[in-house]
Amino acid sequence: MARETWATRMGFILAAVGSAVGLGNVWRFPFITGQYGGSSFLITYLAFVALVGFPAILVEFVIGRRTERNPVGALRELGSGVWSRAGWLFVVTGFVILSYYSVVAGWFLRYTLIGITEGYTLTDPSEANALYQSVSAGLDAVVFHALFMLLVVGIIAAGVRRGIELSVKVMVPAILVLLVGLAAYGSTLDGASAAYAYYLSPDFGTIAANWTEILPAAAGQAFFTLSLGMGVMITYASYLGEDRNLAADAGAIATIDTLVAVLVGFVVFPVLFSVGIEPGTGGPGAIFVSLTAAFAGIPGGRVLGIVFFGMVGIAALSSAISILEVLVSYLIDEVGVARVPAAAAVGAAVFLLGVPVAVDTIFLGLYDGLAYGILLVLGSLLLVLFVGWVVPDLGREELRKGIADVGGLDVAWIWVVRLPVAIVILVSLILGVTDYVDFLTGGFADWLAAR
Ligand code: TRP
Repeated sequence: MARETWATRMGFILAAVGSAVGLGNVWRFPFITGQYGGSSFLITYLAFVALVGFPAILVEFVIGRRTERNPVGALRELGSGVWSRAGWLFVVTGFVILSYYSVVAGWFLRYTLIGITEGYTLTDPSEANALYQSVSAGLDAVVFHALFMLLVVGIIAAGVRRGIELSVKVMVPAILVLLVGLAAYGSTLDGASAAYAYYLSPDFGTIAANWTEILPAAAGQAFFTLSLGMGVMITYASYLGEDRNLAADAGAIATIDTLVAVLVGFVVFPVLFSVGIEPGTGGPGAIFVSLTAAFAGIPGGRVLGIVFFGMVGIAALSSAISILEVLVSYLIDEVGVARVPAAAAVGAAVFLLGVPVAVDTIFLGLYDGLAYGILLVLGSLLLVLFVGWVVPDLGREELRKGIADVGGLDVAWIWVVRLPVAIVILVSLILGVTDYVDFLTGGFADWLAAR
């Protein structure tokens, strides 16, 4: 059977935007931005997307379009020695990320449902926190994790055109329309002006004083939000039939993803400021607790909450399918399994791997720290070194295809990838490993000792 391709250029861009826009923009970005001081973080992150993220997307695109393969097969075809086996890393990373991503996405489904059936009524933060505890861990969390994985498997089983392309044509415009509507509503809230000041007035003093923390956090956020480091963009580019302008497509994808993240800030911060909650007082659960408490206290909060949580659920779905597609395309290309059984089997395995996270959130730290702090960064480093130093001519040749007047772009790109980008990623990796060791010997060891 011939390998599938995208039906349209728009289909490819929407699929890639759908992959990029997800929990990273909506759930992770606001609490990380809050944690690192609002505007200072925003500026550093924007710089990273442009200077590191954009060249790194192109690295994945050229590999994918050149080989028309899944990441494992692509590296086996292009590389020799250890390089030919490096693609395995992406399969491992995909399993780990999707397993906890699905659990968190399940929380959003659950919160949407709570809004529909009961509304958000808990203004007292300790009660809102008790609700979060009951949603995020235990049988409920397992059930919603299973539900979300079923949706993901269903779309991937339907194929590249009928599954991914069709669904993102509905989901991505829906996400954008809902988000613009929410941000417009946010501007009418009492807290809006204080929120904008916090979010938008750059404070270079804060950046200078805290750069050792802000820098790696911004780098990691840039990779995660652009879906880089595990071969998603390799896989999606492998379904490109013709030669299009990869640089233009990468630019469009990075721009839309960034606009979405910035817009989310225009929703979340006014909502929080309007009920007097300081952003950034911590962690993955805080956004649920503080937002439900805020939705309970502002006019129209119930509808606002349903639309917000529902939108995040859709955004998470259009991202999660890209992760499963990497694993499934590997089984189809390399092992010869048919699409439907491949999707079902991988989906079941990912579900099982995610169950511990749904039972106790300590595993969220264990999985997320490993995937996002180490595996993704390592994956990006390998790809960047591979294209920059092992197959640079092939990379440049592939980039030039479809660009009418390339100028010096291909040469500039290779050099940016070879040195500055590779060095920044290496530094992030070292910091990520250090943080993870701290977590294992600190928080996780305490948790184990208390068993
Ligand atoms: N980019 C998505 C988000 O922001 C998550 C995601 C999808 C991802 N595919 C990925 C992250 C691959 C890393 C690697 O939510």
